[in-house]
Amino acid sequence: MLIKNPRFEISVMNKSQYPKNNLPEIVLAGKSNVGKSSFVNAMINRKSLARTSSAPGKTRQLNFYNMDDKFYFVDLPGYGYSEMSKAEQAKVGASTESYLKSRKNINLIILLIDIRHKPSENDIMMLDFIKHTGKHYIVITSKADKIAKTKVSSYVADIAKILDVPEDLIFAYSSETKLNQEIIWEVIEESLYSIEAE
Ligand code: GTP
Ligand code: MG
Repeated sequence: MLIKNPRFEISVMNKSQYPKNNLPEIVLAGKSNVGKSSFVNAMINRKSLARTSSAPGKTRQLNFYNMDDKFYFVDLPGYGYSEMSKAEQAKVGASTESYLKSRKNINLIILLIDIRHKPSENDIMMLDFIKHTGKHYIVITSKADKIAKTKVSSYVADIAKILDVPEDLIFAYSSETKLNQEIIWEVIEESLYSIEAE
């Protein structure tokens, strides 16, 4: 899909601030620093529409990026950022949870897991939570450029097994090399059409 005019629309904490135009939403979830904001930028070939940082905990609100008025990428705050105060972690966690539970126009949830690491307890809890929402989801193993090409498929298979995710729902990705970018765009497009048709 060619996005001509991607734009940042709004950063929100509370339900009352969600966009009201009912566009489909494609959500990026995952641990802090896993590459969610970089994923948004790489998919649309922009360097810095979504703010990224080598310091974890960059994204602390739900950020809505409008893709040509066709859909939003919703960049969630990452979990597991230990330097955030407990109170702030709880606040961020609650707003993420309430969004995922209550938002009707989520068409696809993308959970990112760093390909180099075994999924954490938090990753497993997040995926269970996602499965319970009943929404479409996929898992993306991020930063695939950080391991040897020959190892990518076995790392993906291991992560799929630990997470109990069918292998057709998990894709390796790299925002550096854009590995699998076309396939992931196809999945996103399919999710946009499937709900429209329902
Ligand atoms: P939070 O906003 O803290 O939740 O993090 P995030 O998940 O949005 O991560 P972000 O996109 O800010 O990336 C974190 C760091 O990882 C940055 O230094 C990125 O440049 C780097 N990074 C992200 N994706 C990739 C990738 O595919 N390959 C490599 N080599 N580095 C990546
Ligand atoms: Mg981010």
